[in-house]
Amino acid sequence: MNILAIESSCDETAAAVVRDGRTVLSSCVASQIEMHTIYGGVVPEIASRKHVEAVTALADQAVGQAGLSQRELDAIAVTCAPGLIGALLVGVNFAKGAALALNLPLIPVHHVRGHIAANYITHPDLEPPFTCLCVSGGTSAIVDVTSYTEMTVLGSTRDDAAGECFDKVARVLGIGYPGGGPMDRLSRGGDPRKYPMPQAHVQGAELDLSFSGLKTAALNLIHNARQKGEELDLPSFAASFGQAVSDSLVPRTMRAAERLGYGKIAVAGGVAANGRIRQDLQAACARSGDRLYLPELSLCGDNAAMIGAQGFYEFQAGKRAGWDLNASATRDISLG
Ligand code: KG4
Repeated sequence: MNILAIESSCDETAAAVVRDGRTVLSSCVASQIEMHTIYGGVVPEIASRKHVEAVTALADQAVGQAGLSQRELDAIAVTCAPGLIGALLVGVNFAKGAALALNLPLIPVHHVRGHIAANYITHPDLEPPFTCLCVSGGTSAIVDVTSYTEMTVLGSTRDDAAGECFDKVARVLGIGYPGGGPMDRLSRGGDPRKYPMPQAHVQGAELDLSFSGLKTAALNLIHNARQKGEELDLPSFAASFGQAVSDSLVPRTMRAAERLGYGKIAVAGGVAANGRIRQDLQAACARSGDRLYLPELSLCGDNAAMIGAQGFYEFQAGKRAGWDLNASATRDISLG
């Protein structure tokens, strides 16, 4: 089954063709990062306009690169939630038009479910159930992936997402947007224990996360050093920050995995590219005996291949959207 997938939830327009949920025939991404860098963050109105400009050509390109004609497509999948509402609506309306014109079924896909499905592309042998750490610019959650389409959030952030914190701290340091990658690279060779950072614990909810205190502490450290005219040891600062994020995520993920007992842990989302988090999870899984599944780096960030992968499993479970499909800025992952 060949699915044309469309993704436009934030600042990347993407289109891909995926066969049977596992084989990527093409994957095209048009990034808007250069445009948003000027403002130090995503400007929603600009994002929507850029999606409008890019989506049609990108979808044509994806079908062409897959070596298929439009007649050989079997369904259209599209990210419908969560994300920037104006940005999502561009993809949703394009997908509706394409499905109507080509007389194909339309499959709505939850963006974070897509991130999880990136692992099905990288690891052909991975099947649910497994525990999944989902960490991106908008989400930080530990998810029980019971089946391809049944999921429960066991713990999530009470405030900021992990990626958002990397972005805010990097912005104040002036090292680029989005900041996760630059912070990761800056941290290499730094001492991760040089700048002690706070750890938040949510009382009564041991798997829940909180990053706003860590973000504020890191920003205060930068401002205090600047006010006193002191030089921060930047690699050690970035390493200490990355270590604090990892120390928040990894033990909770391992606790959830132990509770669920599946023996399999996957990671999903842009922050899954982080070197410290990948290394700490590898070490923790070597100790616990769990098998760790990491998505390949090119599939960690937003892309449409992951939407095509999840779209296949949603389709198999009977999910279809009507022409009244709407986008939602927020949506629980368990609702799909
Ligand atoms: O999954 P994604 O592309 O978009 C969302 O669905 O949110 O994630 C983007 C986030 C950004 O916050 C970015 O700074 C972060 O992922 N990120 C990283 C790394 N690469 C990207 N965070 C930490 N370390 C990285 N290497």
